[in-house]
Amino acid sequence: MTSLVRRLGLSLPLAALSLLPAALVAHAEEPWVSAPAGPLAREIAPVYWILFFFAVIVLAIIDGGLIFAAIRFRERPGHVAKQFHGHNMLELTWTVIPTAMVIFFSVISFQRLQFINDTRTGAQMTIQAEGRQWSWIYSYPQEERFKLKDGKYLQGAEEIHVPAGTKVRIELSATDVIHDFFVPQIGGKKDAVPGRKTELWIQADKPGVYKGQCAEFCGDGHADMLIVLYAHDEAGYSEWLRQALEVANLINDPATIRGKEVFEANACVGCHTIRGTKAAGRVGPELTKVASQPNIAGVSSLSPVNVENLKKWIANPQAHKPGTAMPLVPLSEADLDAVAKFLAVLK
Ligand code: CUA
Repeated sequence: MTSLVRRLGLSLPLAALSLLPAALVAHAEEPWVSAPAGPLAREIAPVYWILFFFAVIVLAIIDGGLIFAAIRFRERPGHVAKQFHGHNMLELTWTVIPTAMVIFFSVISFQRLQFINDTRTGAQMTIQAEGRQWSWIYSYPQEERFKLKDGKYLQGAEEIHVPAGTKVRIELSATDVIHDFFVPQIGGKKDAVPGRKTELWIQADKPGVYKGQCAEFCGDGHADMLIVLYAHDEAGYSEWLRQALEVANLINDPATIRGKEVFEANACVGCHTIRGTKAAGRVGPELTKVASQPNIAGVSSLSPVNVENLKKWIANPQAHKPGTAMPLVPLSEADLDAVAKFLAVLK
């Protein structure tokens, strides 16, 4: 009986392991294998199902046989084990069938590789995605429509925006360690490797928000290294671009760039996050869109969020909200003014 327990003990973790893909699918917001949202994912999903189907059969046969043998041939008084060596038919079977399966999997995979790896044909746009601990920075093409007032081109963090129904080439790079770009519903998955350029392509059938995740363990913040892909229709894309350019122009404006530098150089960064900047603190509230809030820090007298009220707040938080965790950060009058001007454009 002990050997039965021991054998069951081995097969149960194996059975649990085989359920892992299903668990991962259940965990995702949209089960990509049943809801692929782009041509690439549609090409890859059937391979997943075929492999999964065969894996379940193999698991059933192997574990079924194991459990059957453990029970049927367990040690019992009066039973003597039959001694024999080799079994040609069996050995042939467990060699030929797995070999045929591996060849079959290779064929259905290789058939698709050309399509999956072809990042050029029909691609209408190239976006560079740079992975770093622990976010992605997206650089939009050096085209007139992405140009900023200071002559640079639009960049963004956290969110990547693409036109729906369009093949977009993504050029990947990494600054520190290996990251991996993966938006399951759209398909494709590629490492971003320091010192090297890799690429993949993405295409979303319809407008929507598709979530992804850095898929290569890259340190403490790996789980926070999300990819949020926005696919827009034509009008939506123009509207997003208009707003993104407006904000980027404001932040990079000589009047506000100084405030951004002050913010990044002082204690502010330790507590607050502003996307697109170095500020990634988690103690205080995120300020990425602080200027679209009805007031500052929930204080109704500090409404609206404008330069004047921001200055009042930063200059003396305790006076407006006694007991607040926001400390008084000593700033010169010029720095205070610059920070307030910078925060006031974050919409
Ligand atoms: Cu970047 Cu994991």
